[in-house]
Formats: sequence, C-alpha cells, structure tokens
Amino acid sequence: MIQNDYKYLIHHGSKDTTKASQMFPIETARKARVFHRQIPGYKMTRLVSLPELSAMLGVEGIYIKDEAQRLVLNSFKVMGGSFALYNFIKKKLGREQEVSFEYMKSKECHDIVGDITFASATDGNHGRGIAWASQQLGYKCVIYVHNETSKPRIDAIRSYGAHVEVVDGNYDDAVRKIAEDAKKYNWEIISDTSWDGYTEIPTWIMQGYTTILLEAQEQFAGLGITRPTHVFVQAGVGALAAATVGFYTALFPNDPPKFVIVEPDKAPCVFESVKAGDGKCHSIKGDLDTIMAGLACGDPSPIALDILDANADVFVQMPDYVAARGMRILSCPLTGDPFVISGESGAVPLGALFTLKNDNCPEDLKEALALDEHSIVFMINTEGNTDPVQFRRVIWDGLDPVPKKFTEIDIK
Ligand SMILES: Cc1ncc(COP(=O)(O)O)c(C=O)c1O
Repeated sequence: MIQNDYKYLIHHGSKDTTKASQMFPIETARKARVFHRQIPGYKMTRLVSLPELSAMLGVEGIYIKDEAQRLVLNSFKVMGGSFALYNFIKKKLGREQEVSFEYMKSKECHDIVGDITFASATDGNHGRGIAWASQQLGYKCVIYVHNETSKPRIDAIRSYGAHVEVVDGNYDDAVRKIAEDAKKYNWEIISDTSWDGYTEIPTWIMQGYTTILLEAQEQFAGLGITRPTHVFVQAGVGALAAATVGFYTALFPNDPPKFVIVEPDKAPCVFESVKAGDGKCHSIKGDLDTIMAGLACGDPSPIALDILDANADVFVQMPDYVAARGMRILSCPLTGDPFVISGESGAVPLGALFTLKNDNCPEDLKEALALDEHSIVFMINTEGNTDPVQFRRVIWDGLDPVPKKFTEIDIK
C-alpha cells in the first residue's frame, strides 16, 4: 500500500458556537457588504461550478468562489483590509452612523482624522490590498515584506503608492518588526493577524471577508442550494478560515457544513496548535519554504485559532505538489468545466480535495470527511495569477510535479 504524503487530524472540538455568533453576526456581514458595494469597480465575483470534476470525484457539486476576479487586485485580501480601514476611520470620526466611501476620501474627513499612515506586514496579498485601499482613500501606507517575497509581489504593492521595506527573516519576523516601528513612527497597524492586546482590527478584517461568503450564499440560493455540505478552506494565520467557519457556524448553528482546513506541510501552524490541544498558539519556526506564499505563516492568529479549534472538523497539511496539482486542474479543466486562474495559495483546497479522493485516503479520514454523491463542496480561489513568473513555472514548466506513485496512469 502506497503511503500518503499528507498529514491529517480528525478533530472533535467543543462545537461551541458562542464566539462564532458574536464575531460573525449576519448583520455585520450585511454591513460589510453595503460598504464594499460602494467601492468603485465593486462587483460580485463569480461562483464557478465544476460539474464534470464533481462527477469524476463522486460528489454532487464543487463550487469555487473566484476571488481572482476581485476588483483589480486578483485576491480576496482587499475585502478585509478595506473594511478595517472603514471601521478605523469611522471610529476616529466618532460616528455611530455609517460613513460613505466618498466621505472617507473627502477633505472634510481628512481634516478631522488627521495625517494617518497605515502600516502592515504582508506576504504579498494583504499588503497589496492595504496599499490599494489607502491610495483610494488618500492615506499614506508603509508595507513590510520578508526577504523571500518575490519581486512581482513587491512591485505590485509599490504600484499602489506604498513605501515597501524588505525585512530579514520570514513573515512572522516582518509582523514583529512593523509592530516595533509603528510605535516609533506613529503609524497605524492594519494587521490581519492578532496578538495579545491587538484584536479589534484583525476582527474587522475577518468580518470584511464575510462579504465573499454572503455573496456566495446569495449565489447558492439562486441555484436552489441552502448551503454547502462541505467547506474546504486554506489557512495562513487562519483569519480567512476562521471567518468562513465562523460565518457558516453563525448562520447554521444547528447544522453547519463540515469544515476542512488546508495548510502547507511546511507551515502548518494552525494544525499543530489544534493538535497540541491546550488552546494555545504554537509556532512553526524556520523559513517556511513553501510555494504557497500566502500561507507561509508560522504563527496562527489567536482569535482565529479559537474559532477553528471549536468548530472545524478536519485539518490537513499538504505538500507543495498538491497546490501545483490544484493550479493545473483549474487551468486545464475537464471538457465542459470552466477554467479558473488560480495561484498556489488559491488552488490548494481543490488540490487537497482531489488528492484526498484519489491517493489512498485512510478509512478513518474517509469516514470523517463523509464525502459522497450528495456532497456540495465549497471553496474559495483566494488568488489568481498574483506572481506571474512563479505561475508560469508551475503551469508551463511543471514545477512541483505529482510524485509518480500518485499519477493517474501507470506507465510501466
Ligand atoms: C492568496 C491567499 N490565500 C489565503 C491566505 C490565507 O489567509 P489567512 O492568513 O487569513 O489564513 C492568504 C494570506 O495572505 C493569501 O494571500
């Protein structure tokens, strides 16, 4: 029997829905949606159906929310950052009532809130979103990246007028460094990860992501589907995953979908923290050298971990070739399915589903996943071609091939 290359954790959390309901009430998702609708260029991203692949994998449906088409940014991240800037400015203005996007750009608003510099660490997409939103609203922006960040990712952030500094170390080192420097220079940190005493802004960011899920639910309703039965979602610090798990748990507290959390095996900080079973965050050290740049995080966000620990069902850590496999499946689909441009971090949930269905899934995991012909699987393509050079390496040059032992055709 061929061994699998992935690790899995079947988790029986508390299933307590209190935190999910407090953090992700439907009214907040609606507020986020109302805010996002005002952003110039906003439109709902598509919910892609893959009927042929569903038939091949023996499930009723696979639906992918395609955030590669979000605004001009090719990634979901701007939904969180922009909603955090909105809440931050609203709080500064001391307003209870809603503040429009146009007003936030106005001289009157700038005169009241003063000369703000927004700052954040990033592995690419979050920084791009903050830089873009700051530029749209007319505020200065400083972004720290780590020295593994590719040039196209840095150039993209700079193209939105942000000052970019390259910091020695990994993403988590960049987070620590910007926290220090923000104190020194009086910058306002808009971080997607939380830490002790810093939770309000990361909560707004997670709530901002729920616009994506509200849109998806509207799109599902249009198809006569109440909710997906399974949600596969990728995790870096876990903010998107917790927003997704939290949103669906709050909406369907008695009957939530099954949640599968997917991480790179070189940066499985959520997996290892949940596995430790003490409710604490556990760090993964080192250079976190994975092609899934957006998921290369060694420290989970504590407020995200709480929700994932309570409410997620299965955690998997996947090798890089699974992400590459997902990218190739999406960009060269079965006849009849639409094609989707997906970067490494965006494609890993589909790569994981395909791998779990094909490559000797252990019986206990099969049972825990309970994927069958009635399953409706939902996932988010969180990024498109955000790093064109790397994208071509994978799609054109075949970087990170599936090991021979798992390829479909036995050529012997
Ligand atoms: C493309 C992409 N997908 C997923 C994620 C994961 O989000 P989180 O760090 O909230 O877990 C990121 C984070 O940067 C990302 O850039």
